[in-house]
Amino acid sequence: MEAANILIVDDEQVICNGCRMALMDENYSVDIRMDGRSGLDAILNGGYDVVLLDMKLPDLDGMEILKTVGKEKPAEQIIVMTGHFSVQNAVDAMKSGAFDYLTKPFSDDELSIAVKKALENKRLKEENLYLRQQLAQRFDYRNIIGENQKILNIFEGIDKVAPTDSTVLLCGESGTGKELFARAIHARSRRAAARFMPIDCSTFSSSLLESELFGHVKGAFTGAVKDKEGIFEMANHGSLFLDEVANLDLATQARLLRALETHEYMPVGGNRFRKADVRIIGATNRDLKSMVADGKFREDFFYRLNVFPLLIPPLRERRDDIPKLLYHFLKIYCQQMEKRIDGFSDDALAFLINHDWPGNVRQLKNLVERLVIMADDGSLGCETIAYQLDSDRIRPPHAIPETLDELKRAKQEMLEKEFGQIERAFLRRALSSTDGNITQAAKRVGMQRSNFSALMKKHRLSADVAKKI
Ligand SMILES: Nc1ncnc2c1ncn2[C@@H]1O[C@H](COP(=O)(O)OP(=O)(O)OP(=O)(O)O)[C@@H](O)[C@H]1O
Ligand SMILES: [Mg+2]
Repeated sequence: MEAANILIVDDEQVICNGCRMALMDENYSVDIRMDGRSGLDAILNGGYDVVLLDMKLPDLDGMEILKTVGKEKPAEQIIVMTGHFSVQNAVDAMKSGAFDYLTKPFSDDELSIAVKKALENKRLKEENLYLRQQLAQRFDYRNIIGENQKILNIFEGIDKVAPTDSTVLLCGESGTGKELFARAIHARSRRAAARFMPIDCSTFSSSLLESELFGHVKGAFTGAVKDKEGIFEMANHGSLFLDEVANLDLATQARLLRALETHEYMPVGGNRFRKADVRIIGATNRDLKSMVADGKFREDFFYRLNVFPLLIPPLRERRDDIPKLLYHFLKIYCQQMEKRIDGFSDDALAFLINHDWPGNVRQLKNLVERLVIMADDGSLGCETIAYQLDSDRIRPPHAIPETLDELKRAKQEMLEKEFGQIERAFLRRALSSTDGNITQAAKRVGMQRSNFSALMKKHRLSADVAKKI
């Protein structure tokens, strides 16, 4: 094994020499810095396994050094040395990220034990990190249910793109799982152990955004009473998830574009650029291309985002996954609420498979949660489900009509919409109770076969509705 590298930062020659001799005797390789500034630079440049840091240095306070290192290289193993020992000193140092402390004067043995402990801790941390990455990779798809070919293609795309640093753009309707897939990309990347920072772009006003994203320095503007870390800094080495990118205004898009292209940003009120190593994953439920055509989205920003697009299909285009999703969430909520529910009745399942799910998986998940809350035991039947689904219906706030004609038209539209849903559910139910036999279904509900099929045509239903279970 290679000899461990130790850095000593102390302004007292005797201490430096003493430590160097003792450590070299144990075959460590040792470097020395005798002031705070060059000590800090050496630590930040990296390459040391353990740092011995004096708390009292002529130029920089040891505590300042600890804080800076804690921000930029939190994994560093630092043992602080203090001649003016007080418990408070040690506590403060440990709070700021020091691994251990030595009170001067200390013996060679004390030094050797402290360094060994720090090296062991470093090894454990690295091992832990490795295991966490492995674990993340193994389980990142665990919570994503889907065997439909379109979903399998997305998994394949993720497998390919995740290990790279390329920008990914997830497009799909609301509730299709865009965030879930974004997290899977992060979990399967080399950034898995760093942060995944989700940002909802619709919550940013452009005036606030710059300081939110890039941080600000103390005194940058009224109210900036201390330095504030920006999102870019927090996501450094990790992934930044720009959710609802379509909601960014043009000026904000320009600022982000610059940061993404140069990998550098300047905190508000700051005077030096900082590096940002972040991987961007964007998501949208809008058609960005047509927004570009309408001048509502910057073309250059679009191309910067659209490097590797992944289209998540709506649930109605992967109906074969509906039963798996239903049972997946049923199991979760039954466990959570300590209930025993057998499952869904056949006609309930047929009904749910044929539902259009405008709110996609999120709507399905919420429905199952409501059903489990309401149910006692046994299996879940069609009536309860239809009733619960009904409460999902979104009633768009109609513009207030200005004339009687408009009022009548609004009434008609609303009735048709509401009634249409009941009519559709009625047909489905009749069909599934007769296994898709149209003649029997019509007879059962007391209708002429021709009228029944006409109604099916109106709703674009086929007899397969009942056979899809
Ligand atoms: N394939 C899936 N398997 C299991 N759970 C899923 C799946 N897809 C989505 N979900 C769940 O559905 C919910 C909605 O997913 P998510 O928030 O990722 O959707 P979204 O596309 O980001 O929606 P929005 O556009 O509204 O933000 C989450 O609770 C998520 O865990
Ligand atoms: Mg989302």
